[in-house]
Amino acid sequence: MKAKNILIFGGSGQIGRHLIRKLTKSNYEVTAVTRNIHQKAYFLKTQANAGYLNVIEANIFDEEKIKNLIRKNEIVINLIGILYENRSNTFHNLHNIFPTYISKICRDFNIKQLIHVSALGVEQAGDSNYAKSKLEGEANIKNNFKDSTILRPSVVYSVDDNFTTNFMTLLNRLPIFPLYYNGKTKFTPIHCSDLTEIIYQVISKKIKSTTIECVGPETISLKDILERLLYLIDKKRILIPMPLFLAKISAVFFELFPKPLLTNDQLRLLKYDNVPSGKYKTNFDINVPSTRKFNLEVSKYCYMWKESGQFSKKKYDL
Ligand SMILES: NC(=O)c1ccc[n+]([C@@H]2O[C@H](COP(=O)([O-])OP(=O)(O)OC[C@H]3O[C@@H](n4cnc5c(N)ncnc54)[C@H](OP(=O)(O)O)[C@@H]3O)[C@@H](O)[C@H]2O)c1
Repeated sequence: MKAKNILIFGGSGQIGRHLIRKLTKSNYEVTAVTRNIHQKAYFLKTQANAGYLNVIEANIFDEEKIKNLIRKNEIVINLIGILYENRSNTFHNLHNIFPTYISKICRDFNIKQLIHVSALGVEQAGDSNYAKSKLEGEANIKNNFKDSTILRPSVVYSVDDNFTTNFMTLLNRLPIFPLYYNGKTKFTPIHCSDLTEIIYQVISKKIKSTTIECVGPETISLKDILERLLYLIDKKRILIPMPLFLAKISAVFFELFPKPLLTNDQLRLLKYDNVPSGKYKTNFDINVPSTRKFNLEVSKYCYMWKESGQFSKKKYDL
């Protein structure tokens, strides 16, 4: 049987890497687009079965090149996204302009499926520029390509994430850790493999013209997440609520760095619970329940942050 061709924008990211593994193993032929083939192709190539992955370097705003790439594929998946802006990469360009124009190209070339990964909670967080740009992008995609599928994941974790791994590094180094909004914000973290299973099922069951909120099996507050991570890496740290004005000042300071730990826009996002809205279907409703539990999954890789690695004995029982 001829393999179906899938084009992925943002394939070198956390979700993209897991997705390429899943899709190429399942007989799909994937083309991943990256800005820097030298930096990204060598590890992307190890994710796929031989002959099932092409890596292409492109400027995503080179319309002719992008048209040519889209034209050759049956399915297009957009995973491009950023958490903070700089001069050349803005939320507006990447979350709105880019998805808007590729959805027009997909329509013009009668692409069978367009799957766009947005984020959970973008409708609620009206004062965040990240959320606003994601929401505008979603609306334009739906307008241009009626059959598009929008996926809105909660925070995604895995051994190669920027979430649990960054928190474990910080918790290791800092004796005191700040709790924004008293650590009360709720999340429904989803394991990256559960999310890629949802994308795979959306493709194979041809689920179209819908928005799906992608959530894990547990609802966990930020404070609870930090306490679980501390338990898993066997450390004791003081978690102290940080007054909002201090949090804002520290965010202004962090924003001076090329990869800020926290921005004021992220601080605004953190105010809102990251849980299903009740307005849209979740992955549970489309019969693709996420099964992986937070503690069990993180316990498989957290030993890298323990004092003696995987051979360390437990010091604290909480
Ligand atoms: N991870 C999460 O917890 C989470 C939660 C909710 C929603 N999401 C959304 O899911 C999507 C994928 O997330 P992820 O965690 O896999 O992201 P990621 O690891 O940060 O990867 C982002 C991807 O975007 C591409 N990219 C970034 N800036 C670009 C630019 N200026 N031009 C072209 N490509 C650019 C990168 O490609 P190259 O560097 O190869 O060019 C990279 O492959 C994003 O839209 C994100 O907002 C993620």
